[in-house]
Amino acid sequence: MGSIVAIIVDGWAPEEWADALNRQAPDLEVRIWPDIDDPGAVDFALVWKPPAGVLTDLPNLKAIFSLGAGVDHVLGGADNPGVPLARIVDPDLTHRMSEYIVLHCLIILRKQRLFDVQQREASWHAHAMPLAAEVRVGILGYGTLGQDAATKLATIGFDVAGWSRTAKPQAPHPVFHGAAMLKPFLARTDILVSLLPLTPDTRGFLNAGIFDCLAREGALGEPALINVGRGASQNEADMLSALDSGVLGHAVLDVFETEPLPPENPLWHHPKVTLTPHVAADSTPEGLTRLIVSQIRRAERGEPLLHLVDRKRGY
Ligand code: NDP
Ligand code: OXD
Repeated sequence: MGSIVAIIVDGWAPEEWADALNRQAPDLEVRIWPDIDDPGAVDFALVWKPPAGVLTDLPNLKAIFSLGAGVDHVLGGADNPGVPLARIVDPDLTHRMSEYIVLHCLIILRKQRLFDVQQREASWHAHAMPLAAEVRVGILGYGTLGQDAATKLATIGFDVAGWSRTAKPQAPHPVFHGAAMLKPFLARTDILVSLLPLTPDTRGFLNAGIFDCLAREGALGEPALINVGRGASQNEADMLSALDSGVLGHAVLDVFETEPLPPENPLWHHPKVTLTPHVAADSTPEGLTRLIVSQIRRAERGEPLLHLVDRKRGY
């Protein structure tokens, strides 16, 4: 009998993952939580927002696979600290995220929202638009996703920099790091893109103190924010004040303090907000299952897993 894999997802359709696993690795025995039969028999758990206590009830787990790049949904709950936890690092997800970021940087650069309004009013007016090279994009979180987005934005011509926890001396773009270099990084940023993982250090990070430090003399005038990291990293009250006062010119948000975003939340109808329902890097189970199966094969052969999470660091 092959290894036993439990799919434990909240808010996603588990059947799609089970079908992809059955197609790609028919020898695996796939069980969909809560119908996992004998918890002691489960070898691997594929998880997205696992309900509290479910993972700790699987005593013989060999590995946990986050079905996303982020792992706050595992580390935030009752966890199994001794079990290796791996995350998604896959071109399918990475390329989709970069598409989203490039799309929104270009919409901001080319003032497309203004032209959309004008079209509805049958109004024919040109507006001066800066060159990409005149616009400084600052990427908070220069990891797997940040580096890919930076490379693609730089190819278009944007003036790109990153900010990370540790130094990146080999990076092809200027990368600032640590608390001491945050202010200089923000001061040269016209479009701030957040790809920070959610950790105790990044919770509530995108707040008034950050927005106030962004560049205001740049080619866009008012700076813009794109948050595709995690909603709990943003202070939405501060963000609304910053949008209303002109400290921020526009916010593109894919993630929110509360998801799904409640219907009464003012962000839905704010004229300076563009929002999407946490789909920036929406990938297909078929695509990501290839990585998961290759990881299970590694574990079965006794080889170390790829893309392991450092639980102490939180990402
Ligand atoms: P990585 O782990 O590859 O990169 C994380 C980056 O953030 C690293 O550069 C890291 O610095 C930096 N970082 C972490 N903590 C701090 C800190 N306290 N101060 C400064 N920099 C910090 O992650 P990915 O790029 O793969 O993914 C990033 C996040 O994107 C995910 O955790 C997830 O939350 C989010 N995401 C959102 C999706 C969506 O649909 N909206 C889809 C996929 C991911 P260093 O390099 O020094 O370690
Ligand atoms: C992820 C996500 O972490 O989709 O991959 O948010």
